[in-house]
Amino acid sequence: MWTLGIESSCDETAAAVVDEQLKVHSNVVFSQIARHQAYGGVVPEIASRCHVEVIGEVLRRALAEAGISAGDVGQVAVTRGPGLASSLLVGVQAAKAFALQRACPLLPVNHLVGHVYALFLDRSEAEALRFPLLILLVSGGHTLLLEMEEDRSLHRLGTTLDDAAGEALDKGANRMGLGYPGGPEIEKVARENHAEPIRLTGAQHLKRTHRTGALDPALCFSFSGLKTALLCALRDHPEWMEPERFPALCSGYQDDVFSGLLGPVERALRKKPYRGFACVGGVARNARLRVLLSDLSQRHKVHLALANPAYCTDNAAMIAGAAAAGAADAVGSPLEMDIVPNLKI
Ligand code: KG4
Ligand code: ZN
Repeated sequence: MWTLGIESSCDETAAAVVDEQLKVHSNVVFSQIARHQAYGGVVPEIASRCHVEVIGEVLRRALAEAGISAGDVGQVAVTRGPGLASSLLVGVQAAKAFALQRACPLLPVNHLVGHVYALFLDRSEAEALRFPLLILLVSGGHTLLLEMEEDRSLHRLGTTLDDAAGEALDKGANRMGLGYPGGPEIEKVARENHAEPIRLTGAQHLKRTHRTGALDPALCFSFSGLKTALLCALRDHPEWMEPERFPALCSGYQDDVFSGLLGPVERALRKKPYRGFACVGGVARNARLRVLLSDLSQRHKVHLALANPAYCTDNAAMIAGAAAAGAADAVGSPLEMDIVPNLKI
């Protein structure tokens, strides 16, 4: 059975076709980056208008590239949240119209669960995931430490108490005069660095007094102190913005963000004998982070699974994959479905 996936939670308009073995047959992503760049971040009004403009064509291309017609689609999966309300609405309306017209089931998918299912796409048996699986989810808006059991149930172990890692990269890049999105821009400059990286601060350790609810503070993240450290550094050392020092600054800042990610991961790996460790989300595209994760998993003798870079940043294949794998239930009637902009895992 073919699953058509639709994703429009932020600034990517995407549609994809996936089969029941979670093999991806098409993965069309229209990135709106060029339309938001002048503003240094996503402008919700522009994003939703752009989704409306391109979603029809994105859907047509996804079907054409998979070599199927609308009548072949067995079910439609769509992101219901979390995300920008006005952007989510566009994908959900398109999915409802498709499901109603074709009389096929409509499955609402949690975008964060979708990021996790990026791991399952196009995966061969030889590289099967191992459970219990520790998962680091690092996107623009979320930084989560999750655990997945053999039965695919997901539990939240840790979260960020302030900024997400991707947000720290995006805001840091903005302060350093780089474009949006900041993660890939910082990575590009950091790659040119041959000097000692300029480190601003080590990983931040959260105290028991921080409000983490039922979550263990040792498994939670914080990046706002690092952001302040960058602001102070730029004020006190304007020379670090000079061309000969700038790559070392970007490289150091990127490593500071990554060590803020790796601390809680390492503590979780010490706490329980995980058989697998995985990383998903937009930041997981970063080549330097992928090397650090590989070193860490070798040190802890745990099997590492990284999502294919094409499925790390927002896409609809991961949304279709989550539905095809049974991680979402069909709604009774497509007309009943609504968006949930602050949906959690
Ligand atoms: O998962 P994603 O596409 O969207 C959200 O759900 O938020 O993640 C976007 C985030 C942005 O913060 C972006 O700067 C970051 O992923 N990102 C990267 C790279 N590519 C995207 N960060 C570091 N290195 C990259 N190559
Ligand atoms: Zn995302």
